Amino acid sequence: MRRQIMAKLRVHNLATSLDGFAAGPDQSLENPLGVGGEALHTWYWKTAFGKDMQGEGEPGETGVDNDYLLRGVEGIGATIMGRNMFGPVRGPWPDESWTGWWGPNPPYHHPVFVRTHYPRPSVEMEGGTTFHFVDDDDETVLAKAVEAAGGLDVRLAGGAATVRAYLAKGLVDELHLPISPILLGGGERPLDGIRGYVVSKVEQGEGTVHYTLVRG
Ligand SMILES: NC(=O)c1ccc[n+]([C@@H]2O[C@H](COP(=O)([O-])OP(=O)(O)OC[C@H]3O[C@@H](n4cnc5c(N)ncnc54)[C@H](OP(=O)(O)O)[C@@H]3O)[C@@H](O)[C@H]2O)c1
Repeated sequence: MRRQIMAKLRVHNLATSLDGFAAGPDQSLENPLGVGGEALHTWYWKTAFGKDMQGEGEPGETGVDNDYLLRGVEGIGATIMGRNMFGPVRGPWPDESWTGWWGPNPPYHHPVFVRTHYPRPSVEMEGGTTFHFVDDDDETVLAKAVEAAGGLDVRLAGGAATVRAYLAKGLVDELHLPISPILLGGGERPLDGIRGYVVSKVEQGEGTVHYTLVRG
């Protein structure tokens, strides 16, 4: 009998502070990652991947940190994210003008499922990214993303609450947390109450330490 190849649900580069926060408090238009949260990504913006993302012409670092960033986009056919990661608007959408932080051509290039209790029509962006707003249970959203991924894996992009929900149900196959050398003192914690995962690898990068966790 042929073994069925199953798509994996993967978390990559969820930058987390030493005290466990993936975003600081008080997220807003001015502070997308919450107050102080920008420092979670200091290492990120030094890499070639980060420079490329920002459209900066100058070369970036191509070491361990960059390798982890590249791995996060390999073999991914769909993304799941929480509504707070998608933007700063909360509650009912006042209109449909907010289409994400990433400009007209977001860096996904595949279907992205945005979890919200306030669904709205899908938005097709340049470059192959379509945002679908879904108000379904965790498993149904995952099933939709797996189907949309067409045989590739699904990336669980964040934020903290969304990753926590899937970890709590043991649905995440691989969790990569770069632990940034900062304290945030408050904000959103992806690992609160999570059991059943073990660290399978620890690797020192140039600006962060990379922890990989799998089911234990
Ligand atoms: N450090 C990193 O690498 C990293 C990576 C990604 C994101 N982030 C940051 O993380 C922060 C966002 O994380 P977060 O924990 O605040 O929120 P989140 O996980 O992005 O989104 C939570 C929201 O998702 C919706 N939701 C949750 N459960 C749902 C369900 N069962 N059905 C439908 N909708 C559901 C709710 O929005 P509604 O109110 O619309 O229902 C809820 O408020 C941002 O600051 C972002 O920049 C950091």
